[in-house]
Amino acid sequence: MKFINPYVFAVATLLMVSCSSKKETLSLKDAYKNDFYIGTALSADQIQGKNTKEDSLIKKEFNAITAENIMKSMFVHPQKDKYNFTLADKYVAYGEKNKMFIHGHTLIWHSQLAPWMEKIKDSTEMKAFMKDHITTIVSKYKGRIGSWDVVNEALNEDGTLRKSVFLNTLGEQYLVDAFKLAAKADPKVDLYYNDYNIEDPAKRAGAIALIKKIKAAGGKVDGVGIQGHWRLASPSIEEIEKSILEYSALGIKVAFTELDITVLPNPWDLKGADVNQNFEGSEKMNPYPKALPDSIQNKLAERYASIFKLFLKHKDKISRVTFWGVHDGQSWLNDWPIKGRTNYPLPFDAQLKHKKAYDSILQLKAKKE
Ligand code: XIL
Repeated sequence: MKFINPYVFAVATLLMVSCSSKKETLSLKDAYKNDFYIGTALSADQIQGKNTKEDSLIKKEFNAITAENIMKSMFVHPQKDKYNFTLADKYVAYGEKNKMFIHGHTLIWHSQLAPWMEKIKDSTEMKAFMKDHITTIVSKYKGRIGSWDVVNEALNEDGTLRKSVFLNTLGEQYLVDAFKLAAKADPKVDLYYNDYNIEDPAKRAGAIALIKKIKAAGGKVDGVGIQGHWRLASPSIEEIEKSILEYSALGIKVAFTELDITVLPNPWDLKGADVNQNFEGSEKMNPYPKALPDSIQNKLAERYASIFKLFLKHKDKISRVTFWGVHDGQSWLNDWPIKGRTNYPLPFDAQLKHKKAYDSILQLKAKKE
Protein backbone atom coordinates (compact mmCIF):
# COMPACT_ATOMS: atom_id res chain seq x y z
CA MET A 1 0.00 0.00 0.00
CA LYS A 2 1.23 3.46 -0.88
CA PHE A 3 1.88 5.81 1.97
CA ILE A 4 -0.50 8.79 1.98
CA ASN A 5 0.88 11.84 3.67
CA PRO A 6 -1.78 12.76 6.26
CA TYR A 7 -1.03 16.46 5.78
CA VAL A 8 -1.64 16.29 2.00
CA PHE A 9 -4.78 14.25 2.65
CA ALA A 10 -6.15 16.81 5.11
CA VAL A 11 -5.45 19.75 2.80
CA ALA A 12 -7.02 17.94 -0.16
CA THR A 13 -10.14 17.13 1.85
CA LEU A 14 -10.41 20.69 3.08
CA LEU A 15 -10.09 22.00 -0.45
CA MET A 16 -12.78 19.64 -1.72
CA VAL A 17 -15.17 20.61 1.06
CA SER A 18 -14.59 24.32 0.65
CA CYS A 19 -15.01 24.09 -3.14
CA SER A 20 -18.25 22.20 -2.93
CA SER A 21 -19.67 24.43 -0.23
CA LYS A 22 -18.66 27.48 -2.27
CA LYS A 23 -20.59 26.09 -5.20
CA GLU A 24 -23.65 25.56 -3.07
CA THR A 25 -23.70 29.09 -1.67
CA LEU A 26 -23.00 30.72 -5.00
CA SER A 27 -25.91 33.04 -5.60
CA LEU A 28 -26.54 36.67 -6.43
CA LYS A 29 -27.82 37.52 -2.98
CA ASP A 30 -24.86 35.93 -1.22
CA ALA A 31 -22.28 37.39 -3.54
CA TYR A 32 -23.69 40.90 -3.04
CA LYS A 33 -24.75 40.54 0.60
CA ASN A 34 -22.40 43.26 1.83
CA ASP A 35 -23.28 45.66 -0.97
CA PHE A 36 -27.04 46.00 -1.56
CA TYR A 37 -30.18 43.90 -1.73
CA ILE A 38 -30.66 41.85 -4.89
CA GLY A 39 -34.35 41.73 -5.65
CA THR A 40 -36.82 40.33 -8.09
CA ALA A 41 -40.40 41.06 -9.13
CA LEU A 42 -42.86 38.28 -8.35
CA SER A 43 -45.90 37.32 -10.39
CA ALA A 44 -49.13 36.19 -8.68
CA ASP A 45 -48.17 32.53 -9.33
CA GLN A 46 -44.70 33.01 -7.86
CA ILE A 47 -46.13 34.64 -4.74
CA GLN A 48 -48.21 31.49 -4.29
CA GLY A 49 -45.21 29.23 -4.93
CA LYS A 50 -47.05 27.47 -7.75
CA ASN A 51 -43.93 26.32 -9.59
CA THR A 52 -41.51 24.57 -7.24
CA LYS A 53 -38.46 25.03 -9.48
CA GLU A 54 -39.08 28.76 -9.74
CA ASP A 55 -39.71 28.91 -6.02
CA SER A 56 -36.35 27.41 -5.11
CA LEU A 57 -34.59 29.67 -7.56
CA ILE A 58 -36.25 32.76 -6.03
CA LYS A 59 -35.29 31.68 -2.51
CA LYS A 60 -31.74 30.85 -3.53
CA GLU A 61 -30.90 33.97 -5.54
CA PHE A 62 -32.85 36.92 -4.14
CA ASN A 63 -33.22 38.66 -0.78
CA ALA A 64 -35.69 41.38 -1.79
CA ILE A 65 -39.06 41.23 -3.51
CA THR A 66 -41.48 43.50 -5.33
CA ALA A 67 -44.98 42.47 -6.40
CA GLU A 68 -45.02 42.81 -10.19
CA ASN A 69 -48.74 43.62 -10.31
CA ILE A 70 -50.92 42.56 -7.39
CA MET A 71 -50.42 45.67 -5.23
CA LYS A 72 -51.39 48.05 -8.00
CA SER A 73 -54.62 49.93 -7.38
CA MET A 74 -56.78 48.00 -9.87
CA PHE A 75 -56.07 44.76 -8.00
CA VAL A 76 -55.91 45.91 -4.42
CA HIS A 77 -58.70 48.52 -4.54
CA PRO A 78 -61.13 47.34 -7.25
CA GLN A 79 -64.15 49.27 -5.98
CA LYS A 80 -64.54 52.47 -4.02
CA ASP A 81 -65.46 50.72 -0.78
CA LYS A 82 -63.74 47.42 -1.41
CA TYR A 83 -60.15 46.35 -0.97
CA ASN A 84 -58.85 42.94 -1.94
CA PHE A 85 -55.79 42.02 0.08
CA THR A 86 -55.79 38.27 -0.52
CA LEU A 87 -52.68 38.20 -2.71
CA ALA A 88 -51.01 41.17 -1.04
CA ASP A 89 -51.24 39.30 2.28
CA LYS A 90 -49.67 36.23 0.68
CA TYR A 91 -46.93 38.39 -0.85
CA VAL A 92 -45.97 39.93 2.49
CA ALA A 93 -46.14 36.54 4.23
CA TYR A 94 -43.86 35.07 1.52
CA GLY A 95 -41.27 37.77 2.12
CA GLU A 96 -41.43 37.35 5.90
CA LYS A 97 -41.19 33.59 5.75
CA ASN A 98 -38.09 33.82 3.58
CA LYS A 99 -36.57 36.76 5.48
CA MET A 100 -36.60 38.98 2.41
CA PHE A 101 -36.74 42.75 2.17
CA ILE A 102 -40.32 43.56 1.13
CA HIS A 103 -41.03 46.50 -1.17
CA GLY A 104 -44.47 47.96 -1.85
CA HIS A 105 -45.30 48.81 -5.47
CA THR A 106 -47.13 51.15 -5.93
CA LEU A 107 -49.52 53.67 -4.32
CA ILE A 108 -50.17 56.59 -6.69
CA TRP A 109 -49.81 55.75 -10.39
CA HIS A 110 -51.88 56.74 -13.42
CA SER A 111 -51.65 53.23 -14.93
CA GLN A 112 -53.45 50.05 -13.91
CA LEU A 113 -56.10 52.06 -12.08
CA ALA A 114 -59.45 50.51 -11.26
CA PRO A 115 -62.16 51.75 -13.66
CA TRP A 116 -63.96 53.59 -10.82
CA MET A 117 -60.83 55.66 -10.13
CA GLU A 118 -60.55 56.79 -13.72
CA LYS A 119 -63.97 58.35 -13.43
CA ILE A 120 -62.95 60.63 -10.56
CA LYS A 121 -63.24 64.16 -11.92
CA ASP A 122 -63.18 66.60 -9.01
CA SER A 123 -60.67 67.49 -6.36
CA THR A 124 -62.83 66.60 -3.35
CA GLU A 125 -63.34 63.06 -4.55
CA MET A 126 -59.70 62.65 -5.56
CA LYS A 127 -58.47 63.94 -2.21
CA ALA A 128 -60.74 61.49 -0.43
CA PHE A 129 -59.50 58.65 -2.65
CA MET A 130 -55.83 59.43 -1.98
CA LYS A 131 -56.33 59.67 1.76
CA ASP A 132 -58.29 56.45 1.98
CA HIS A 133 -56.09 54.49 -0.45
CA ILE A 134 -52.71 55.44 0.99
CA THR A 135 -53.75 55.34 4.64
CA THR A 136 -55.53 51.99 4.39
CA ILE A 137 -52.77 50.18 2.51
CA VAL A 138 -49.73 51.64 4.26
CA SER A 139 -51.21 51.18 7.75
CA LYS A 140 -52.23 47.63 6.97
CA TYR A 141 -48.64 46.60 6.36
CA LYS A 142 -47.04 49.00 8.84
CA GLY A 143 -43.78 47.61 10.16
CA ARG A 144 -43.86 44.69 7.71
CA ILE A 145 -43.12 46.41 4.41
CA GLY A 146 -39.68 48.03 4.21
CA SER A 147 -40.26 50.63 1.50
CA TRP A 148 -43.02 52.00 -0.74
CA ASP A 149 -43.14 53.50 -4.20
CA VAL A 150 -45.39 56.35 -3.10
CA VAL A 151 -45.64 58.01 -6.50
CA ASN A 152 -44.80 56.25 -9.76
CA GLU A 153 -44.07 57.93 -13.10
CA ALA A 154 -45.26 61.49 -12.45
CA LEU A 155 -42.95 63.01 -15.06
CA ASN A 156 -42.86 63.54 -18.81
CA GLU A 157 -39.66 62.93 -20.77
CA ASP A 158 -38.80 66.65 -20.74
CA GLY A 159 -39.02 66.75 -16.94
CA THR A 160 -42.38 68.52 -16.76
CA LEU A 161 -45.24 67.02 -14.77
CA ARG A 162 -47.35 64.39 -16.51
CA LYS A 163 -50.96 65.43 -17.02
CA SER A 164 -52.31 62.50 -15.05
CA VAL A 165 -55.70 62.19 -13.45
CA PHE A 166 -54.01 63.25 -10.18
CA LEU A 167 -52.41 66.40 -11.58
CA ASN A 168 -55.57 67.32 -13.45
CA THR A 169 -57.77 67.15 -10.37
CA LEU A 170 -55.41 68.28 -7.59
CA GLY A 171 -52.56 70.20 -9.18
CA GLU A 172 -48.98 69.53 -8.06
CA GLN A 173 -49.96 69.55 -4.40
CA TYR A 174 -50.95 65.88 -4.86
CA LEU A 175 -47.27 64.92 -4.81
CA VAL A 176 -46.62 66.48 -1.42
CA ASP A 177 -49.89 65.12 -0.04
CA ALA A 178 -49.09 61.57 -1.15
CA PHE A 179 -45.75 61.55 0.67
CA LYS A 180 -47.25 63.17 3.77
CA LEU A 181 -50.10 60.65 3.94
CA ALA A 182 -47.72 57.71 3.56
CA ALA A 183 -45.37 59.01 6.27
CA LYS A 184 -48.31 59.54 8.61
CA ALA A 185 -49.54 55.98 8.09
CA ASP A 186 -46.10 54.45 8.76
CA PRO A 187 -43.49 56.94 9.98
CA LYS A 188 -40.66 54.40 9.77
CA VAL A 189 -41.14 52.97 6.27
CA ASP A 190 -38.84 54.26 3.49
CA LEU A 191 -40.70 56.33 0.90
CA TYR A 192 -39.58 56.42 -2.74
CA TYR A 193 -40.30 58.36 -5.89
CA ASN A 194 -40.06 55.81 -8.75
CA ASP A 195 -39.83 56.45 -12.51
CA TYR A 196 -38.26 55.32 -15.79
CA ASN A 197 -35.66 57.23 -17.85
CA ILE A 198 -34.83 59.45 -14.89
CA GLU A 199 -31.16 58.86 -15.62
CA ASP A 200 -31.64 60.91 -18.83
CA PRO A 201 -30.53 64.52 -18.23
CA ALA A 202 -33.82 66.39 -18.87
CA LYS A 203 -36.03 63.98 -16.97
CA ARG A 204 -33.43 63.67 -14.21
CA ALA A 205 -33.46 67.45 -13.72
CA GLY A 206 -37.25 67.22 -13.44
CA ALA A 207 -37.04 64.43 -10.87
CA ILE A 208 -34.48 66.30 -8.80
CA ALA A 209 -36.63 69.45 -8.82
CA LEU A 210 -39.67 67.37 -7.88
CA ILE A 211 -37.97 65.64 -4.94
CA LYS A 212 -36.60 68.98 -3.69
CA LYS A 213 -40.08 70.52 -3.88
CA ILE A 214 -41.70 67.68 -1.96
CA LYS A 215 -39.05 67.88 0.73
CA ALA A 216 -39.24 71.67 0.95
CA ALA A 217 -43.01 71.38 1.46
CA GLY A 218 -42.50 69.00 4.39
CA GLY A 219 -42.88 65.66 2.61
CA LYS A 220 -40.57 62.79 3.61
CA VAL A 221 -38.70 61.32 0.64
CA ASP A 222 -36.18 58.63 1.56
CA GLY A 223 -35.19 57.42 -1.86
CA VAL A 224 -35.44 57.49 -5.61
CA GLY A 225 -36.24 54.42 -7.66
CA ILE A 226 -34.60 54.41 -11.07
CA GLN A 227 -36.59 51.74 -12.86
CA GLY A 228 -33.79 50.69 -15.23
CA HIS A 229 -35.72 49.39 -18.24
CA TRP A 230 -32.61 49.71 -20.35
CA ARG A 231 -31.08 48.76 -23.68
CA LEU A 232 -27.78 47.19 -24.72
CA ALA A 233 -26.26 50.49 -25.84
CA SER A 234 -28.07 53.04 -23.70
CA PRO A 235 -28.23 54.76 -21.31
CA SER A 236 -24.50 55.31 -21.01
CA ILE A 237 -22.62 54.32 -17.86
CA GLU A 238 -21.65 58.00 -17.53
CA GLU A 239 -25.29 59.14 -17.32
CA ILE A 240 -26.15 56.38 -14.85
CA GLU A 241 -23.18 57.41 -12.71
CA LYS A 242 -24.14 61.10 -12.82
CA SER A 243 -27.63 60.08 -11.73
CA ILE A 244 -26.38 58.08 -8.74
CA LEU A 245 -24.24 61.02 -7.65
CA GLU A 246 -26.84 63.74 -8.20
CA TYR A 247 -29.69 61.86 -6.51
CA SER A 248 -27.63 60.82 -3.53
CA ALA A 249 -26.46 64.42 -3.16
CA LEU A 250 -30.08 65.15 -2.22
CA GLY A 251 -29.50 63.01 0.87
CA ILE A 252 -31.66 60.13 -0.36
CA LYS A 253 -31.08 56.45 -1.17
CA VAL A 254 -30.79 55.29 -4.76
CA ALA A 255 -32.45 52.04 -5.80
CA PHE A 256 -32.58 50.36 -9.20
CA THR A 257 -36.06 49.02 -9.00
CA GLU A 258 -37.07 47.31 -12.26
CA LEU A 259 -33.85 46.34 -14.01
CA ASP A 260 -34.03 44.55 -17.37
CA ILE A 261 -32.18 44.99 -20.66
CA THR A 262 -34.02 44.50 -23.91
CA VAL A 263 -32.10 42.88 -26.77
CA LEU A 264 -34.85 43.44 -29.35
CA PRO A 265 -35.32 46.25 -31.86
CA ASN A 266 -37.29 49.17 -30.54
CA PRO A 267 -40.19 50.48 -32.65
CA TRP A 268 -39.49 54.02 -31.45
CA ASP A 269 -36.08 53.96 -33.11
CA LEU A 270 -37.70 53.50 -36.51
CA LYS A 271 -38.66 56.91 -37.82
CA GLY A 272 -42.39 57.30 -38.26
CA ALA A 273 -43.10 53.97 -36.60
CA ASP A 274 -46.57 53.72 -35.18
CA VAL A 275 -46.15 51.69 -32.00
CA ASN A 276 -48.09 48.43 -31.87
CA GLN A 277 -49.52 48.87 -35.32
CA ASN A 278 -47.70 46.97 -37.98
CA PHE A 279 -45.13 44.98 -36.06
CA GLU A 280 -46.94 42.07 -34.50
CA GLY A 281 -45.73 38.90 -36.20
CA SER A 282 -43.00 40.82 -38.02
CA GLU A 283 -39.75 38.81 -38.25
CA LYS A 284 -37.72 41.98 -38.32
CA MET A 285 -39.03 43.01 -34.92
CA ASN A 286 -38.77 39.54 -33.39
CA PRO A 287 -35.39 38.34 -34.63
CA TYR A 288 -34.67 35.58 -32.07
CA PRO A 289 -37.88 33.58 -31.62
CA LYS A 290 -36.02 30.33 -30.71
CA ALA A 291 -32.68 31.22 -29.14
CA LEU A 292 -30.41 34.15 -28.50
CA PRO A 293 -27.27 34.09 -30.69
CA ASP A 294 -23.98 33.84 -28.77
CA SER A 295 -22.86 37.23 -29.99
CA ILE A 296 -25.85 38.94 -28.35
CA GLN A 297 -25.65 36.72 -25.27
CA ASN A 298 -22.10 38.00 -24.82
CA LYS A 299 -23.13 41.61 -25.35
CA LEU A 300 -25.81 41.24 -22.70
CA ALA A 301 -23.26 39.75 -20.28
CA GLU A 302 -20.83 42.61 -20.92
CA ARG A 303 -23.59 45.18 -20.47
CA TYR A 304 -24.65 43.68 -17.14
CA ALA A 305 -21.01 43.50 -16.03
CA SER A 306 -20.42 47.18 -16.70
CA ILE A 307 -23.64 48.17 -14.97
CA PHE A 308 -22.91 46.09 -11.86
CA LYS A 309 -19.31 47.31 -11.82
CA LEU A 310 -20.70 50.83 -11.54
CA PHE A 311 -23.20 49.76 -8.88
CA LEU A 312 -20.36 48.28 -6.84
CA LYS A 313 -18.33 51.46 -7.19
CA HIS A 314 -21.25 53.33 -5.57
CA LYS A 315 -22.55 50.63 -3.27
CA ASP A 316 -22.58 53.07 -0.34
CA LYS A 317 -25.30 55.04 -2.14
CA ILE A 318 -27.37 52.13 -3.46
CA SER A 319 -29.96 50.39 -1.31
CA ARG A 320 -31.33 47.77 -3.70
CA VAL A 321 -31.05 46.41 -7.22
CA THR A 322 -34.19 44.57 -8.32
CA PHE A 323 -34.64 42.69 -11.60
CA TRP A 324 -38.05 43.02 -13.22
CA GLY A 325 -38.88 39.34 -13.16
CA VAL A 326 -37.22 36.07 -12.19
CA HIS A 327 -36.51 34.73 -15.68
CA ASP A 328 -36.86 35.63 -19.37
CA GLY A 329 -40.06 33.64 -19.82
CA GLN A 330 -41.84 35.84 -17.29
CA SER A 331 -40.63 39.18 -18.62
CA TRP A 332 -43.18 41.85 -19.53
CA LEU A 333 -40.82 42.70 -22.43
CA ASN A 334 -42.15 39.67 -24.33
CA ASP A 335 -45.37 41.66 -24.70
CA TRP A 336 -44.27 45.28 -24.54
CA PRO A 337 -44.06 47.45 -26.53
CA ILE A 338 -45.04 44.81 -29.09
CA LYS A 339 -47.04 41.74 -28.17
CA GLY A 340 -45.85 38.17 -28.65
CA ARG A 341 -42.08 38.56 -29.07
CA THR A 342 -39.30 36.55 -27.45
CA ASN A 343 -37.00 38.75 -25.40
CA TYR A 344 -33.98 37.83 -23.24
CA PRO A 345 -33.56 40.66 -20.73
CA LEU A 346 -32.75 38.90 -17.44
CA PRO A 347 -29.91 36.80 -15.94
CA PHE A 348 -32.01 33.59 -16.08
CA ASP A 349 -33.49 32.10 -19.26
CA ALA A 350 -37.00 30.74 -19.68
CA GLN A 351 -35.76 27.27 -18.60
CA LEU A 352 -34.45 28.87 -15.39
CA LYS A 353 -30.84 28.23 -16.40
CA HIS A 354 -28.41 30.99 -15.59
CA LYS A 355 -27.07 32.87 -18.57
CA LYS A 356 -23.67 34.39 -19.25
CA ALA A 357 -25.11 37.63 -17.87
CA TYR A 358 -25.53 35.91 -14.50
CA ASP A 359 -21.95 34.63 -14.55
CA SER A 360 -20.63 38.06 -15.45
CA ILE A 361 -22.46 39.65 -12.49
CA LEU A 362 -21.07 37.03 -10.09
CA GLN A 363 -17.63 37.20 -11.63
CA LEU A 364 -17.22 40.81 -10.48
CA LYS A 365 -17.38 39.64 -6.88
CA ALA A 366 -15.14 36.61 -7.41
CA LYS A 367 -12.36 38.90 -8.55
CA LYS A 368 -12.68 41.09 -5.49
CA GLU A 369 -12.99 38.51 -2.73
C1 XIL B 1 -45.64 46.01 -15.77
C2 XIL B 1 -45.81 44.52 -15.47
O1 XIL B 1 -44.57 43.89 -15.54
C3 XIL B 1 -46.79 43.88 -16.45
O2 XIL B 1 -47.07 42.54 -16.08
C4 XIL B 1 -48.09 44.68 -16.51
O3 XIL B 1 -48.92 44.17 -17.50
C5 XIL B 1 -47.80 46.15 -16.80
O4 XIL B 1 -46.89 46.65 -15.82
N1 XIL B 1 -43.15 50.36 -14.84
C6 XIL B 1 -43.68 49.92 -13.66
C7 XIL B 1 -44.17 48.53 -13.56
O5 XIL B 1 -43.63 50.65 -12.65
O6 XIL B 1 -45.23 48.39 -12.66
C8 XIL B 1 -44.55 47.97 -14.92
O7 XIL B 1 -44.87 46.58 -14.74
C9 XIL B 1 -43.43 48.17 -15.91
C10 XIL B 1 -43.13 49.64 -16.09
